[in-house]
Amino acid sequence: MNQTGKLRLGVNIDHVATIRNARGGDHPDPVRAAAIVASVGGDGITAHLREDRRHIRDEDLSRIQAATNLPLNLEMAATEEMLEIALRHKPHAACIVPEKREERTTEGGLDAAGQHNRLVPIVTRLRDAGIRVSLFIEAEERQLDAARLLGAPVVEFHTGEYAHAGLDGDADHEAKELARIARMSALAREMGIEPHAGHGLTYDNVKPIAAIPELAELNIGHYLVGEAVFVGLESAVRRMRELMDEAR
Ligand code: PXP
Repeated sequence: MNQTGKLRLGVNIDHVATIRNARGGDHPDPVRAAAIVASVGGDGITAHLREDRRHIRDEDLSRIQAATNLPLNLEMAATEEMLEIALRHKPHAACIVPEKREERTTEGGLDAAGQHNRLVPIVTRLRDAGIRVSLFIEAEERQLDAARLLGAPVVEFHTGEYAHAGLDGDADHEAKELARIARMSALAREMGIEPHAGHGLTYDNVKPIAAIPELAELNIGHYLVGEAVFVGLESAVRRMRELMDEAR
């Protein structure tokens, strides 16, 4: 069971930066998004610094850390470059994610079992720096065993397969995926590992995942940023109308 009883929400703000980068300027600023998340009781900010910097950039990390007191969960590939950045910024947590095909299991999580030797020095150096290490893995016993062997205190289960089954209207597959995530969350707790989950979660599919009592945290991004466009577009258009009318 989650120790606190409350399931934490980490908000992934990558796609605010995706929109910003589309114009090359500084609006919309993911730092402003992080401040809004903090002001409405979000529990953490998640940001993925990708090798190609397609959304979050290096300088965003320190700006986000300076602007909010929320814990930063840095998603990163298991590379020397990302390790150095993590050690420099010292985020609360670092979630190791696959970026290249060969680092993935068939469904999309990090192949912690197959990549053990490569992950050992990275996990060790992050842990030694006081950064909470998480591994973004499929909900599979063999990946959990690998996380335990690596000494990772946290795993994040990839919910993409569950989300896709729902989108495809495949109720059987969706139920099987949900059961697998629930089973592996319980097993993670038995192993002393804190289970999180994320990827592809929406208003429509979050509740069954959120009901898994062993889960401590969900990380949600793309859908929230997409929904925010619709929730916010009305007042943004009204404000522009007002300004134009005031000018006449
Ligand atoms: N957790 C991890 C480890 C991720 O890499 C991502 C982004 O792909 C998410 C959660 C959030 O996924 P989404 O943007 O689909 O909500």
